[in-house]
Amino acid sequence: MKITWLHISDFHIRAGDPYDRNVVLRALVSSVQDFRRRGRSPDLVFATGDIAHSGKAAEYELATAFFDDLLAAAGLERRHLFVIPGNHDVDRDLGIGLARTLTSREEADAYFGPKVPKGHLTQKLDELLRWHDEYFQGIRELPRTSTCGPVEAVEVRGCRIGVLPLNSALFCQDDLDHAKLLIGRRCLDAGLEQLCSLDANLRIALIHHPLDWLSDVERSNVKADLQANVDVILRGHLHETEVESVVSAQGGALHVAAGAAYQTRKWPNRALFATFENRGLTIFPIRYEDQPREVWTVDPSLFPSDPSYERRFPIPRLAAEEPEKSATPVKSAEPPVPPRFRSNITSRHDRPFVGREENLAEIQTRLGNPVGERILILHGPPGVGKSELARSSTSAWTCTCWMATPSCACTSCSPRSCVPPRYRPRTPRCWRRSVVYRGSISWLWRRISTTTPPIADWQRLL
Ligand SMILES: [Fe+2]
Repeated sequence: MKITWLHISDFHIRAGDPYDRNVVLRALVSSVQDFRRRGRSPDLVFATGDIAHSGKAAEYELATAFFDDLLAAAGLERRHLFVIPGNHDVDRDLGIGLARTLTSREEADAYFGPKVPKGHLTQKLDELLRWHDEYFQGIRELPRTSTCGPVEAVEVRGCRIGVLPLNSALFCQDDLDHAKLLIGRRCLDAGLEQLCSLDANLRIALIHHPLDWLSDVERSNVKADLQANVDVILRGHLHETEVESVVSAQGGALHVAAGAAYQTRKWPNRALFATFENRGLTIFPIRYEDQPREVWTVDPSLFPSDPSYERRFPIPRLAAEEPEKSATPVKSAEPPVPPRFRSNITSRHDRPFVGREENLAEIQTRLGNPVGERILILHGPPGVGKSELARSSTSAWTCTCWMATPSCACTSCSPRSCVPPRYRPRTPRCWRRSVVYRGSISWLWRRISTTTPPIADWQRLL
């Protein structure tokens, strides 16, 4: 049982001069055909919002042509394509006079009642709804009184996939949408109930925005409900490809962001293939290359050290259901080894680092015990020495914490014993240079680079 889908998002199709956009999207169509010839054939296509640039009818006419070409290249029919709205599918001109957001749970519960007319949906997203229902006529319709649905079961080679489309664009209006968006707990409850009743092998939710963009009126509840009932959450909006396995007290889900398929040729254009097989999902990211010829090809930047630049992630709910294979004791679960840090800054070798003692001391004070997870941002103009400061701070840290046995700075350890095995050096030689550095600072830097704002607690040191 193996199912592959193509996840694309954020096309921002405008009317007007189409050359720049056509170059990228035409290359996507022909590359999907090439991938198919080489065995990577999608069974489904998920488009997670921002089909148009400003929610106008002329933009959706162009979308029709693009999706028809894409489906033909993939050898699929319209019923295999799923489209949800994003903030650019909202016609902001028609948002005049409508509430910017909802400010209390009571207000939200009343608004999202099934019989309450939703002007934000029928007015601001009218062209998207009209286009969607015409394009998918006889297949599915987007609801006018709910943000969730239609829930659908898709059968592919004996595997049943449940799909729950979510509309997070109702309260989008301008560039200040963060924390003002709602999908409505009442709508979500009904949608999840239907999804869970499908008895699907895999449950997928489609939403344009990251969940952190929801209003605090409902954010924690929506997150908890999705974590508890959905296996994979596909999204777009931030224009970066990202895969995150999130396990919380409520349950676990994979959060997959596809990046932007088109945001001019000045910015990275990205998408991804995902293959569900044996209780896991393998992500194969792709990106557009403009030279020497226009082509979509593998994107090695997401999993640079993995074979074929793709990575498999277990589906938390399905992995938990897997029966124990033997009675032998299982090795204690150890966190995965952090990815290797790839730097383009040349090494200073053993030359001394001087004049920043005050900064070094402040970094150590703020980060504390390196075994715990703390995030600190070094911020400053290019060339001021942020990277060297980070490197040198870890060397100093090593000396304090691991090398000076009689005066170990850790409060909760005996020297060396507090270092997780994955950070311990293979030889004394690599102790200082790579182990703690790779295991702490560079790992944190990578986490920072993939962490979406807001980061609540950051410090300006330079
Ligand atoms: Fe967006």
